[in-house]
Amino acid sequence: MQSFHAFVICAVVGFAGHAWSADLELGEYLAQDCLGCHQAQEVVGTIPIIHGLDAEYFIEAMYDYRDGFRENNVMMSVATSLSDEDVEALAAWFAIQENQSAQ
Ligand code: HEC
Repeated sequence: MQSFHAFVICAVVGFAGHAWSADLELGEYLAQDCLGCHQAQEVVGTIPIIHGLDAEYFIEAMYDYRDGFRENNVMMSVATSLSDEDVEALAAWFAIQENQSAQ
């Protein structure tokens, strides 16, 4: 578990330093709208766990919903209401959250 955390922190810092610096406070604030559906502990119905998701994958997924490459009514409307900066902040925040499911 310790090494997992170290890995995640390196990955996030590496990613942030590489292309952008994301605002974790903004991410945490915006994430309140997601947590009702996306739980850290378990997949709820068709709703996946996004805690601990790789930031690059996360951003790609959000842009795919926004641009219609991924079709899901809920996520398409969520994604279209967010700016690029919002998506980056959310990706950075979720990437350092722990996926609490028993895997
Ligand atoms: C009303 C419930 C609901 C809310 C609110 C919601 N989501 Fe989702 N989200 C879903 C569902 C359902 C899916 C799976 C959609 C699919 O099958 O493509 C999903 C998929 C995703 C995925 C893709 C995950 C993967 O593994 O590919 C991401 C990323 C995501 N949501 C981010 C967010 C963010 C960020 C927010 C808040 C701004 C949010 N969601 C709010 C229901 C929700």
